[in-house]
Amino acid sequence: MTAFDDRLKAIVGPRGWKTDADDLEPHLTEWRGAYVGETRMLVAPQTTEQVVEVVRACADEGIAIVAQGGNTGMCGGAVPDQSGHQVLLSLSRLNRIRHVDELNYSIEVEAGCVLSDIQDAARDADRYFPLSLGAEGSCQIGGNLATNAGGVNVIRYGTARQLVLGLEVVLADGAVLSSLRSLRKDTAGYDLKQLFVGSEGTLGIITAATLRLYPDPGETVTALVAIRESGDAVRLLADLRGALDDRIEAFELVSRRIFEAVERAIPGARLPMDEEYPWYVLMEVAAGSHHEVVETALMKAAETGLVVDAVIAKNSAEADRLWRLRHSISEAERQLGKALKHDISVPISRMQEFLRRGDELLASLQPDATLLAFGHVGDGNLHYNVRLPDSLSGEERESAGERISTAILDLVDQLGGSFSAEHGVGQAKRELLKRYRRGTEYNLMRRLKETLDPQNILNPGKVI
Ligand code: FAD
Ligand code: MLT
Ligand code: ZN
Repeated sequence: MTAFDDRLKAIVGPRGWKTDADDLEPHLTEWRGAYVGETRMLVAPQTTEQVVEVVRACADEGIAIVAQGGNTGMCGGAVPDQSGHQVLLSLSRLNRIRHVDELNYSIEVEAGCVLSDIQDAARDADRYFPLSLGAEGSCQIGGNLATNAGGVNVIRYGTARQLVLGLEVVLADGAVLSSLRSLRKDTAGYDLKQLFVGSEGTLGIITAATLRLYPDPGETVTALVAIRESGDAVRLLADLRGALDDRIEAFELVSRRIFEAVERAIPGARLPMDEEYPWYVLMEVAAGSHHEVVETALMKAAETGLVVDAVIAKNSAEADRLWRLRHSISEAERQLGKALKHDISVPISRMQEFLRRGDELLASLQPDATLLAFGHVGDGNLHYNVRLPDSLSGEERESAGERISTAILDLVDQLGGSFSAEHGVGQAKRELLKRYRRGTEYNLMRRLKETLDPQNILNPGKVI
């Protein structure tokens, strides 16, 4: 035990730190088990002032800090390295909902608030917080903002970035950026808060946020629609946006193979269609009491051949069952085992081309690979995951994986897309950032990091 460790313990108090291996284990392993780290100590401050003191102590000694929210991130960003020297800073005890401003349609929360608690607090005030994703019962808003999380409602409300009005951030030297304003309009200089959204703990520690709220969207219609080809989802969306007055809250593409994996992995999960189709769209529309508008639009789409079958949830229990299928995909995929994950985005107008050329690439590079694609097609974002055949040896797997991922991500790049749509970079995609964000863009990111964190103590080895 060093004087530094004692200093940290004194800052957070007896209930604010952990060093026991069993207590630490869930904090040291990434969600899928792909990354496992070590830490000298987990500290869990309860106030912004305690975060400041922890950061100052670490800055004095040049010791690295890894911020951690719910540890549900997909790129290993919240897991420390294996040196055992880094301090793991958990935001979980900084978790008060500070204030709902009903007139301003905003809410001020601390970074460690679990996402579903914020949704509930908004609902209690007859307001709506739209960020929604499968991990919402355990991820924290600080982590959502630090990764600029997306989820299923981006098509109507935007990503975490669009939902933030103000931020409080502790910088690498312990200074506090107090930018917790709740304004819709503010042209006073640079928008500093947005620098920290998506920075994955490498530029500052987010301690609180002011978030945008919306009116409750009211009654929604949830429909599961079968389509013949994945690319038809794009045409269908374009037609429905007009017909439904842009009230589409979610528009998710899922392949038959993915739903089969969910049915196998999740007890009681069953697709409510007798016929089998290769692709489905799960959509939700804020239709008020005019459910028939959705039915009519889907019938029209059926006449043109875009829709081949459809089930409309008759009540909220049926809608919940459909959404449970969707939100169980990550768990089902985890049980299936390792796959090549590609969290890609392209302009929606290039999505059909991406799907066609992606199929061609797979067919030529590894015809026996299995495509496991699903995602937020309404946002131009797909989880274009590929499973390699079990018959490959370790070495063959590695080289095939490298070839396939490079080919797919190069295609995404050619189409003006991104290799990381919503999961961030973390430690998994650092090389990809270098490859696809070249020149001035990458250099400016480097200079920002060096300026804001000259000692490189904030989540070193992640992102850049
Ligand atoms: P963590 O995993 O703890 O951290 C993520 C990164 O943020 C790390 O780099 C960490 O250092 C940093 N960080 C955390 N808190 C702070 C803070 N207060 N200040 C500064 N840095 C911080 N993502 C999507 O975008 N869309 C989805 O639909 C989606 N679905 C998911 C479904 C499941 C079942 C799971 C497990 C994950 C899913 N994700 C999804 C991944 C997503 O990134 C996370 O769920 C979430 O946004 C991360 O929040 P977290 O609190 O768990 O962050
Ligand atoms: C999702 O859309 O369910 C996610 O982003 C999680 C995943 O890719 O597994
Ligand atoms: Zn997703």
